[in-house]
Amino acid sequence: MQGELLVQGSKNAALPILAATLLGKGIFILHHCPRISDVEHMLELLEDAGCRVRWEGHMLIVDTRELCNYRVSGTGAGKMRSTVTLLGSILGRMHQVEIPYPGGCTIGKRPIDLHLRGLEQLGAVFEHQEHTLSGKAQILHGAQIYLDFPSVGATENVLLAAVLAEGTTVLHGAAMEPEIVELADFLRKMGADVHGDGTPVITIRGVKKLHAAEYIVPSDRIVAGTYLFGAVMTMGEVRLLHIPLSHLGKLPELLEQMGAVVEAEEDWIYVRMDRQCRSIPYVVTAPFPGFPTDLQSALMAALSTASGMSFIEEKIFEARFQIVEELRKMGASISSEESFALIDGDARLHGARVEAKELRGGAALIMAALAAEGETCISGMEYVCRGYENINEDLKNLGIMV
Ligand code: EPZ
Repeated sequence: MQGELLVQGSKNAALPILAATLLGKGIFILHHCPRISDVEHMLELLEDAGCRVRWEGHMLIVDTRELCNYRVSGTGAGKMRSTVTLLGSILGRMHQVEIPYPGGCTIGKRPIDLHLRGLEQLGAVFEHQEHTLSGKAQILHGAQIYLDFPSVGATENVLLAAVLAEGTTVLHGAAMEPEIVELADFLRKMGADVHGDGTPVITIRGVKKLHAAEYIVPSDRIVAGTYLFGAVMTMGEVRLLHIPLSHLGKLPELLEQMGAVVEAEEDWIYVRMDRQCRSIPYVVTAPFPGFPTDLQSALMAALSTASGMSFIEEKIFEARFQIVEELRKMGASISSEESFALIDGDARLHGARVEAKELRGGAALIMAALAAEGETCISGMEYVCRGYENINEDLKNLGIMV
């Protein structure tokens, strides 16, 4: 892999920001928005609610002036998890909401108990029907909320419901992912009063009204990390542009531990690998700023080619090792049990027919294919298209024959 790339907009920043547009009345302009299937599904839901949306290249125009429907039923709703952040934003704006039960997915059960508990503390009452979840709130009022786990989605939902509530909300045990700070920045541009985002305690003072805003969606830190692991696996050199270094957490250090040369400034990173990757004795996935679960599969693929044994513990999702059997088909030597995976390294990966079973595992298989001898055929690319706008184009720009 060799070359320079401007990284696409962030899926996990764009989705909650799109949900947040429902809280204000007007015409929103979002730049650098990724044209991926999860965003398209979210736009279907916004249109269902009465919004009008239009793309101009990667600029998305969202008109929420005719928002009228608190019932979300779009075909995409049951397909993806991020529907759930519509709970907070539609409740916040209309004090009533009905969504299809958000899909679990293959990486885990994905319960929403923390979301519901937080929203109930703000005054919402929920009813569970067989396929739909409906919520109501006479008024939304401030509260002291304590999350048992720094759930990204639950933090987003509380933020979205609290910004128009009466009084002050203090959210303790909040997620600190970059996407939380981006959502808070966007809400502040809309006129919200939010402080402490990026720390475990976020204070939200409710305001009467929010207005439209213009925003630049940040580059996708997980897409960036995926390609950086591809670079080290192929002993290549890559420069990624427009990626906030602060969003990468400890990834640069980890890449250096694996033997890469890493140079970075605040919005670009350069990685070169001149040798076989070194193994890493132990990596555990954790909430930000720990190692992100969304890059665990790409790390596993890279460590399959490293010299020596590596050990990964997956502590965020209960079913995020589905890539193991696919990497084995390519010659990797990996054993996994419950939340632990032992990677024997020194594998010379070879081409094979493999199957993507979820988004990030699918992208990791593509990175493994770059390092494999011979041709690899990957089915299930619809999963990858959920989060990677045009991975073929990206790889061509990075010197890969796809
Ligand atoms: C967000 O999912 C991301 N998705 C995920 O990215 C990411 O892996 C995850 O955060 C962790 O960083 C989006 O932003 C759209 P969580 P989310 O709530 O909000 C448990 C990708 O590939 N939990 O922080 O669903 C949950 O089961 C996706 O882009 C509860 O128990 O993650 C999980 O074990 C995959 N109860 C853990 O917390 C709840 O009410 C982390 O979940 C909520 C969560």
